[in-house]
Amino acid sequence: MEREVLFRIRRFDGEHAYWQDFQFKARKGMTVLEGLYHIKESIDGSLSFRASCRMGVCGSCAVKVNGRPRLACETQIFDIGDTLEIEPLDNMSVLRDLVVDMDGFFRKHEAVKPYLIRGGDNYGNPKELMQTPKELHAYYDFSLCIKCGACYSVCPASATRSDYLGPAAMTAAYRFCADSRDEGKDERLRLVSGSEGVWRCHFNAECSEVCPKNIEPAKAVQKMKLMSAIRIIKSIFR
Ligand code: FES
Repeated sequence: MEREVLFRIRRFDGEHAYWQDFQFKARKGMTVLEGLYHIKESIDGSLSFRASCRMGVCGSCAVKVNGRPRLACETQIFDIGDTLEIEPLDNMSVLRDLVVDMDGFFRKHEAVKPYLIRGGDNYGNPKELMQTPKELHAYYDFSLCIKCGACYSVCPASATRSDYLGPAAMTAAYRFCADSRDEGKDERLRLVSGSEGVWRCHFNAECSEVCPKNIEPAKAVQKMKLMSAIRIIKSIFR
C-alpha cells in the first residue's frame, strides 16, 4: 500500500533556518528514516541528518517528529499520519538541518565517570565479579540507554541551565552507583551533588515520557537525589 505524504523539514544552512516541504509516495512500513533517505537520494541531496544502525541501537537518528523526540529509524510514517513536521532536537545547537551538536551532551556523560571504578586492592584484580539476579536487576534497565539525547532535549532544567548535567548523564551515574561491583559511588555522588547536579531537576519527568527505550531517566534522577541526601546526612553526623 502506498500513500502520498508530506515531510515538512526544519532546515538550517549554517546561517538561516527555514522550513522546506517534500512530498512523496510512502509505502506501508516505511520509517521516517527511510523517508529522509528517500529525500536525500531522490529529491535533495543536500539534506543533512544523522543515522547509523537503522535498528534503534546507536541512538544517532533522534529527531523531533510532530513536536515529539523519536528515533527516526523506529518510527513508521503511517503511524504518525500524512503530514510530518521534522525538526532537530531542542537544547542543543543546530549544526546543519537535523544535525545537532552533541559535544556538550557527551562531555556531561563523561563527567559522571560512566564506567566501573575499582580501587585499592581490587584495582586490576582479574577475579570474576559475580552478581546475583537481584544485584543485576538493581541497575539493568538503566544500562539500556542508547544516548540518543531525547530526554536531554525535553528537559526544562537543561534548557535553562547549560551546566546542568541532564537526565542521560544522571541515568549513567545511577547505573554505575547501583552496581554492586562498583567502588566509585562516593566519587560520583560528589560530582552529581553540586550546583549542576541532581538538585537542579524539578521532576518534570518529560524525560521518561519520551525515552524510546522506556528507561525512566526521571526515576534514575530521583534515586540519585536519595543517594545524595543520604550522603549529606551521613556527612553531618560523622
Ligand atoms: S539509526 Fe541507530 S538508533 Fe536509529
